[in-house]
Amino acid sequence: MIKSILIISFLSFSLAPSLNSAEGGPCKDYGDCDQFKPDLNNMASLQRGVGTFMKYCYSCHSLKYSRWGRVANDLQIPEDIFFEYLVPDQDAGPFDLMVAPIHELEIDNAPPDLTLVARKRTSSWVYTYLRAFYDDSSTTYGSNNLVYPGVNMPNILAPIQGNQKLGCKEIPVLAKNGGEKRDEFGNTITKEKCGYLKHQDGSGLLNVEEFDEFIYDLTNFLTYVGEPSRAERERMGVYAIIFFIIFTFLSALLYREYQKDYH
Ligand code: HEC
Repeated sequence: MIKSILIISFLSFSLAPSLNSAEGGPCKDYGDCDQFKPDLNNMASLQRGVGTFMKYCYSCHSLKYSRWGRVANDLQIPEDIFFEYLVPDQDAGPFDLMVAPIHELEIDNAPPDLTLVARKRTSSWVYTYLRAFYDDSSTTYGSNNLVYPGVNMPNILAPIQGNQKLGCKEIPVLAKNGGEKRDEFGNTITKEKCGYLKHQDGSGLLNVEEFDEFIYDLTNFLTYVGEPSRAERERMGVYAIIFFIIFTFLSALLYREYQKDYH
């Protein structure tokens, strides 16, 4: 009996973290996606994220499964300020869905809805994708993306990020045993490999770290929108685990009391 209680509580512990760890995904020519760890209790980050979304993305992308009022409320933005400064549609109300004007017209090939994109693609994918645009004169928009080669979205944030091009760098040649190859003087032998993002310093409004933070907030917001109850659920999960620990302890005590009657 005690054994099975222990097994159950052990299982609930070992399974709990795995609920969180479904991040990471195929970032194509970029290699591994940069890992993104959401912070859904960070209201300042989520508020900056919704601001960026409304300013730069809402002209093309809807969040059609969420409502204005819910987002304002969850992100602790007073409704009057929210509607005055963030929502461009004059007659939108708290119970309306966040459907961009472009999606009210029936256009074929309209840009995709982004409510669930962080769940479909993973947050790490979105975070990496939004930082992986580069100049490519062979495409219609003059830009391309390492994570989504041939993407049909223009490089909207280029003035903020600055110029990014593909470049080459010297990387160590690996020997058969997995170590770095060296010449007879002990210097590492390198070869040129191309297809890396090269950022031109000072060419954007933000520097690289600031731009990463800017995209962090935007991705954090898109993660929240895909699972608006997740922060709440994670809090409840902690309470549930504490409850089970106490419950397990009490059951063990009760079990011992019952055992006394048998012997
Ligand atoms: C000018 C219109 C336009 C703007 C503005 C725009 N996008 Fe896009 N976006 C697109 C189009 C079109 C696609 C589809 C590209 C494709 O599938 O080739 C897309 C695709 C995406 C995708 C990938 C969706 C998927 O799963 O395939 C993400 C994520 C995305 N956009 C995020 C954003 C964010 C965040 C912003 C604001 C910073 C933004 N976009 C601004 C047009 C736009």
